[in-house]
Amino acid sequence: MTHGRKRVGFSRPVSGLWYPLAFFLVLVLCSGSLTMAQEIEDCQECHVDPEKCGRMARIDRETGEVKVVNMLVDEDAFMQSAHGRSEEGFVCIDCHQDLDGVYGEHNALLEPVDCITFCHDDPAEEFLESTHVEHMEEEEKTPPKCTYCHMGRNSARETPVADDAFHRAQITRTCGECHEDYLYTYCTNLHGQLSSLGVRNTDVPNCYDCHGGHDVLKSDDPDSQVGENNKVETCGKCHEGAGENFVRHIAHPGFKTRSFYAETYKTFQEKGILEVLTDPQSYIALVFLMYMGIICQAFSLFGGHAFLMWIRMLLDERKGGDGHEH
Ligand code: HEC
Ligand code: HEC
Ligand code: HEC
Ligand code: HEC
Ligand code: HEC
Ligand code: HEC
Repeated sequence: MTHGRKRVGFSRPVSGLWYPLAFFLVLVLCSGSLTMAQEIEDCQECHVDPEKCGRMARIDRETGEVKVVNMLVDEDAFMQSAHGRSEEGFVCIDCHQDLDGVYGEHNALLEPVDCITFCHDDPAEEFLESTHVEHMEEEEKTPPKCTYCHMGRNSARETPVADDAFHRAQITRTCGECHEDYLYTYCTNLHGQLSSLGVRNTDVPNCYDCHGGHDVLKSDDPDSQVGENNKVETCGKCHEGAGENFVRHIAHPGFKTRSFYAETYKTFQEKGILEVLTDPQSYIALVFLMYMGIICQAFSLFGGHAFLMWIRMLLDERKGGDGHEH
């Protein structure tokens, strides 16, 4: 009873005020959420208008390089990108967080977009803590930034999806910047030839279809996608019925590259000649070297012979000339 009375007693004096108060509260909340719901249009008011935005010079904060950046945003290209097409419905401020709640004009220099902290900490960790990155650091190479491998055609904003032809070509180039010899040997093989001819779809493997993108391991690691244990599965993604014999195929015929000989020499020093002889490429290399030897020998004999003949001809000519003068 007391409880009921208290309730009645409490509601009576307030009821008159409650409705306008609630209305006011809802209004405040709504206007608050209206401010928060910053739409793409709020930014596109300027970023599609060549009168208001255009090409601007920017200094790269990390490299100090001056580059010209286009501030015009291609909304269609964004909508095709990994984020634009996502069901999450990304808006500009999801990534450009320092503009949250900022309407109209804003600072010319914004904080760089942070891909890692709130969204991609797992893939980032997988990459940044891989032995691959460890090895880059040992060789004093700076590991590439996320946007370097996931760059869109015109802007980092247009993060391409995994099967985007441009992305596939770009990753091959990126890997190749540090692994020139492996890019070269990839291109001498049927897979690479097809992709150099412009076949960039997922039917033809690029570096990451075989090696993986973030967690790249050396082929003698048991977990490597191209290691002995997993090769059949990796090649089998495309070559139905691939077996032990099929995967003996040499993905990087390196007998014309310096790194092959450097690595073979290292194996020889560390593990001995027997280990070198287990690599089928050693035989190809041997045949190649012998072939080159024969060619060199033939040319040096031929060249030497021609040189001696030439000297002799000169001498003969001199003799002959002397004869004429007499
Ligand atoms: C009133 C017009 C206007 C509006 C509205 C506007 N911008 Fe801009 N924005 C510009 C201009 C102009 C620049 C180039 C600034 C310069 O270089 O001086 C720019 C530059 C930028 C840059 C590059 C900053 C840098 O550090 O290089 C980003 C990112 C950006 N805007 C994002 C947004 C987002 C996201 C929104 C919506 C929340 C937005 N802008 C709304 C005019 C606008
Ligand atoms: C998925 C994250 C993401 C979204 C969503 C996004 N951007 Fe960006 N944006 C970036 C990244 C990354 C850069 C490259 C610069 C950096 O790293 O800070 C960038 C750069 C820019 C630039 C500088 C010019 C350039 O191409 O480098 C402008 C202007 C810009 N964005 C505007 C927008 C507008 C407008 C929207 C909404 C339509 C938007 N961005 C949505 C990630 C995003
Ligand atoms: C050396 C190139 C390279 C760098 C650097 C790189 N990635 Fe990747 N990443 C790849 C490749 C290759 C794939 C697989 C193909 C794809 O999904 O685009 C991939 C896939 C992804 C995916 C989708 C699949 C998944 O694992 O969820 C995300 C998200 C991603 N990367 C985020 C990042 C972030 C964040 C960084 C920065 C810490 C980063 N990447 C750095 C090459 C790279
Ligand atoms: C910034 C330079 C750099 C980039 C970009 C790069 N790598 Fe590497 N990578 C290295 C270095 C350094 C090593 C260790 C020494 C070596 O084997 O050359 C290495 C090692 C490797 C190894 C042997 C495994 C290991 O950990 O030693 C493979 C396989 C490999 N990289 C493939 C790739 C692929 C595939 C890509 C593209 C997704 C790529 N790399 C991009 C520098 C790079
Ligand atoms: C068809 C699958 C395939 C493709 C595509 C491929 N590789 Fe390989 N890669 C292999 C195999 C298998 C090995 C190990 C045996 C060897 O050296 O041939 C290897 C070895 C390597 C190595 C030596 C380190 C190790 O793990 O033994 C590097 C570095 C490498 N690849 C980089 C690349 C780069 C860069 C690309 C793209 C330009 C690429 N690979 C494309 C299958 C592939
Ligand atoms: C992403 C798919 C893909 C992957 C992964 C792949 N290949 Fe291929 N491979 C192809 C395509 C496409 C061709 C072109 C000819 C064809 O259609 O067979 C080809 C051709 C070949 C050929 C030439 C002979 C033939 O069948 O015409 C060999 C050998 C070969 N691949 C070996 C391998 C090996 C070994 C691996 C694993 C290390 C591998 N491939 C991984 C797609 C792939």
